Amino acid sequence: MSVRLGFIGTGGIARRHLTNCKDHPDVEIVGQCDVVLERAQAAATEFGGNAYQSAEDLYDKEKPDAVVLCTPPFAHGDLEEGAARRGIHFFVEKPVAIDMAMANRVQRVVEETGITTQVGYMFRLAEGPKKARELLATRAVAMVQAHYYMPGLPGPSWWPKMALGGGQLVEQATHMLDLGRFLAGDVKSVTGRTARVRDWTPPAGYEPAPGLLKYADGFEIPDTTGLVMEYESGALGTLSCSMVPQAAWDNGFKVVADGLLVTLEGATARWVGDEEGNLPAGANWANYVLDEFIAAVKDGTGKTSVPYIEGVKSLAVSLAGYESVKRGGGPVEIAELVD
Ligand SMILES: NC(=O)c1ccc[n+]([C@@H]2O[C@H](COP(=O)([O-])OP(=O)(O)OC[C@H]3O[C@@H](n4cnc5c(N)ncnc54)[C@H](O)[C@@H]3O)[C@@H](O)[C@H]2O)c1
Repeated sequence: MSVRLGFIGTGGIARRHLTNCKDHPDVEIVGQCDVVLERAQAAATEFGGNAYQSAEDLYDKEKPDAVVLCTPPFAHGDLEEGAARRGIHFFVEKPVAIDMAMANRVQRVVEETGITTQVGYMFRLAEGPKKARELLATRAVAMVQAHYYMPGLPGPSWWPKMALGGGQLVEQATHMLDLGRFLAGDVKSVTGRTARVRDWTPPAGYEPAPGLLKYADGFEIPDTTGLVMEYESGALGTLSCSMVPQAAWDNGFKVVADGLLVTLEGATARWVGDEEGNLPAGANWANYVLDEFIAAVKDGTGKTSVPYIEGVKSLAVSLAGYESVKRGGGPVEIAELVD
């Protein structure tokens, strides 16, 4: 039997998941929901299902087995709780929330209801990072050096607003912070610095070109951030991220371990030392994370690689960075933030 799937938040990323699900042999798309009803209607026309403006209506009328939540960072909490309390499994895009109160609350409901969850940290299921984790598991890891550079500001209006998107550290660099935890285990404490190094006010006559923006009114987030992490294992880590406009997206890792240097470029791994090799991400690797969730719901195993709690812990690393800045630069313990 197919998994009866609903989509909540039918904007940019939802289209990738909808395209994956449209001809998926194990999926029946039953509903589309967006607070902007026309978006839900457009998705329903293109990909199937009935259109809704309210998630509760979709939950109660379609009674889906599972939903895919693709809402912005601020629009979480009630959507997950509403699904879980009805026994509806959910896949949620990263970051799982805008603050820890929201994330901890949903985690409690997930534990109470025992539903199946998965967070859209797609790098974890790609072949390169999986091989890197396997290689690092038997070695002492010393340094987990990550970077996330994006050449400008994404288009959605919530992006430059701290209370809506959480800035680059919460919204995008979370991929690297989550992957750091996947490669080297949990983070113990975080020290952060943030900066805004350029004026983002649109100059007179600025006409945005397609793609990322160079300027935006009301830009209120840092454009450059550095973190130092101490891992539970004793390893150290750094994250450098910036969204100052330049030529290219660039993200990845150098991981130094006893006898091995591992490089991740995007989701492709290379390693040199007492072993040598390389492994690309795999074809259509960005879809594996949703495919695995669908299989776990269909088979009833409930076993997923990135359950909700992983999203809570990775969000906590970003927010500990901001908290460190607020407190004047000292380390903030993750245990302070996760219930
Ligand atoms: N894993 C990835 O590679 C990846 C890529 C892109 C985006 N994302 C994540 O997906 C999320 C959404 O990003 P996006 O680029 O698609 O944003 P978007 O703004 O393009 O789309 C979000 C949609 O959600 C709708 N929405 C807002 N509140 C809602 C609510 N309460 N109920 C129903 N609909 C609601 C909006 O109207 C909008 O259509 C973000 O958290 C982002 O980080 C993940």
